[in-house]
Amino acid sequence: MPLLDVDELTVTFGGRDRGRGRGRGPKPVTAAGPAGPAGPVKAAEPAEAVKPVKPDGTAEDKSVKPTEPAGAAEGKSVRAPGDNTVMAVNGVSFSVDEGQIVGLVGESGCGKSVTSLALMGLLPRKGVALGGRADFEGTDLLAMSPGKIRDLRGSKLAMIFQDPLSSLNPVVPIGVQVTEILKRHRGMKGEAARKEAVHLLDRVGIPDPDRRLREYPHQLSGGMRQRALIAMAVACAPRLLIADEPTTALDVTIQAQILELLKELVDQEGTALLMITHDLGVVAGLCDQVNVLYAGKVVESSGRRELFAYPTHPYTHGLLGSIPRLDAPRGEPLNPVRGSINDQIAWADGCAFAPRCDRYEMGCLTGTPELTEPREAGHQARCVNPVPATTEVPA
Ligand SMILES: Nc1ncnc2c1ncn2[C@@H]1O[C@H](COP(=O)(O)OP(=O)(O)OP(=O)(O)O)[C@@H](O)[C@H]1O
Ligand code: SF4
Ligand SMILES: [Mg+2]
Repeated sequence: MPLLDVDELTVTFGGRDRGRGRGRGPKPVTAAGPAGPAGPVKAAEPAEAVKPVKPDGTAEDKSVKPTEPAGAAEGKSVRAPGDNTVMAVNGVSFSVDEGQIVGLVGESGCGKSVTSLALMGLLPRKGVALGGRADFEGTDLLAMSPGKIRDLRGSKLAMIFQDPLSSLNPVVPIGVQVTEILKRHRGMKGEAARKEAVHLLDRVGIPDPDRRLREYPHQLSGGMRQRALIAMAVACAPRLLIADEPTTALDVTIQAQILELLKELVDQEGTALLMITHDLGVVAGLCDQVNVLYAGKVVESSGRRELFAYPTHPYTHGLLGSIPRLDAPRGEPLNPVRGSINDQIAWADGCAFAPRCDRYEMGCLTGTPELTEPREAGHQARCVNPVPATTEVPA
């Protein structure tokens, strides 16, 4: 059994004035991260877990009252007139094994962060309905009590957030933020906790860790802050580490160092890593298995080599084709995927990618396309007119 097995996860935001369009809805706790600006790690962890929705669409907890049950919102367009619900994640399934790096890739607003926040129990409790299952070590994370999932966060489950500056508490020294975790989850105290914090900063390659522990986040460079966050995330040797675009804010040399560090952790500790990114370069260098997300659904899933050699879904094909290539003839225009994620239709009406797809045909609008049967390397695509394996990715 995989360490994490996510099955048909759905996340629906509902209620007045919420999520009026893709990419424009208010962000949840992503920016606050594990510490957030309001208090130390422990205090700022959004401790409330979301109550799941039963398969029949009713919320298990009576205090959770989404505008509509998840089942009713299934497949609705985020742009349906007069509809304030946003189905940010629409039936996502994937799994992560120990020592495996699995990528979740897709453009802005496709549901990457919401997926990870749902797994960590970090979505707001009110006005959010969850569906499906997310079994971690055989127990459904979505059904866990807030207390239980809080105990898992920082110990067996850890997350690295995209923006290190807003994820660290700006008015608390780094050392206090790191030792807080050691005290809470490993029962360490005083000098022992401080020594372990020094060791952790040293392990993630922060020079002069003794001094850095006494400093505040603004006194560290961006790369060092991200390393400090990684140190906090790995402080308790988590079994599953979720990294939500951990290198987006960093320059390429620091990016390479951070990715190398994550790879080392996976190799040495057998940690399972869920890597969330929009950068196919990161995927190519790091991931074993890749899931491409579009409008809240996995549209292609495959082993990395197979995906890069034979992208089958027109969206994946377009993403790969839009990467600038050094060997392209001078003056050759780039090949972006036309349109934006706002140009989509409801999954219930057909393929959400249809308005942007060059391979569109009538059959694409007869209900939600299913994922094809897995081929070599578990390769599957949600497409009725897939790109033939012989088609070259445009230069
Ligand atoms: N609290 C919220 N209320 C309503 N809608 C939300 C909320 N949080 C996120 N959304 C919507 O859910 C969708 C998915 O958002 P998510 O943050 O997961 O995107 P993402 O794939 O992580 O994008 P990015 O690459 O920009 O980080 C978006 O349409 C977003 O507007
Ligand atoms: S199902 Fe049709 S519209 Fe959707 S990606 Fe495939 S060919 Fe394009
Ligand atoms: Mg995100």
